[in-house]
Amino acid sequence: MEMPEKIISERLILERPFPASFELAEEIFAKVETSRSTLRLWLPWVDKTLRAEDEFTNYLATYCLDGWKNKSGFPYIIRLKDTNELIGGIDLMSVNEQSKSGEIGYYLCNSAVGFGYMQEAVKSLEKTAFEAGLNRIVIKNDTKNTRSVNVAKHCGYHLDGIMRQDRWSDISQELRDSNVFSKLKNEAN
Ligand SMILES: CC(C)(COP(=O)(O)OP(=O)(O)OC[C@H]1O[C@@H](n2cnc3c(N)ncnc32)[C@H](O)[C@@H]1OP(=O)(O)O)[C@@H](O)C(=O)NCCC(=O)NCCS
Repeated sequence: MEMPEKIISERLILERPFPASFELAEEIFAKVETSRSTLRLWLPWVDKTLRAEDEFTNYLATYCLDGWKNKSGFPYIIRLKDTNELIGGIDLMSVNEQSKSGEIGYYLCNSAVGFGYMQEAVKSLEKTAFEAGLNRIVIKNDTKNTRSVNVAKHCGYHLDGIMRQDRWSDISQELRDSNVFSKLKNEAN
C-alpha cells in the first residue's frame, strides 16, 4: 500500500516526518514538552522521550523510517496550514495489507486542543487510507480518555467493544480497559 507524504485538508497539513533530522527532532520535542503532563497520561512513549535525542533515535530514525520503509505504518506530524506551526501527530499504524486493516493513533499539544483539529486530521487520513486500499480502520483508547473517545465518536466510528483490563498503566498503577472503535470503507462518507 502506498500513502502520500503530504495530506492537505482545510486547515491542516499532515506531513511525513522526513528526512530524519535533529532539527526536526528538536521541534517535535519542544512541542511535546509544552504538554508533557497531559500527554503522558495516555501515551506510554512520552515518559521514554526525555530529550530531543530520544525523539530522534526512537521516533524519527527508527519508528518513522521503518514504518514508511516496510509499509507497516505511516506516521505523520500535523502542521497548521496557515502558519506551518507543528501542533501534534497522527499515525496510521499496524497496517496489514492482507486483511486491509490499520489503526489510527493521535495527539495534539495542549494549545491546539479544542478547535476540532483532530477530527479534521482523522477524517483526512482515513479518507486517504481507504482510497489507498484499506477496508477497516481501528481507533483504540482508554475508556476514561474522554477527549479521545469523543474524537472517535464524532468521526463516526463504531464501538466494537471494550477489551477489559488489557493494558497496564504505569501512571495509575492499575490495569485499564480499552475501547475498540472501527470504521469500514463502506461506512465512510
Ligand atoms: C485526544 C485529543 C487529540 C483530542 O483533541 P480535541 O481537540 O478535543 O479533538 P477534536 O479535534 O475532536 O476537537 C473537539 C473540540 O474542539 C471543539 N471545536 C472547535 N471547533 C471545532 C470544529 N470546527 N469542529 C469540531 N470541533 C470543534 C469542540 O467543541 C471540542 O471541544 P470541547 O470538547 O472542549 O467542546 C487531545 O485531547 C490529546 O491530544 N490528548 C492527549 C493525547 C491522547 O489522549 N491521545 C489519544 C490516545 S488514544
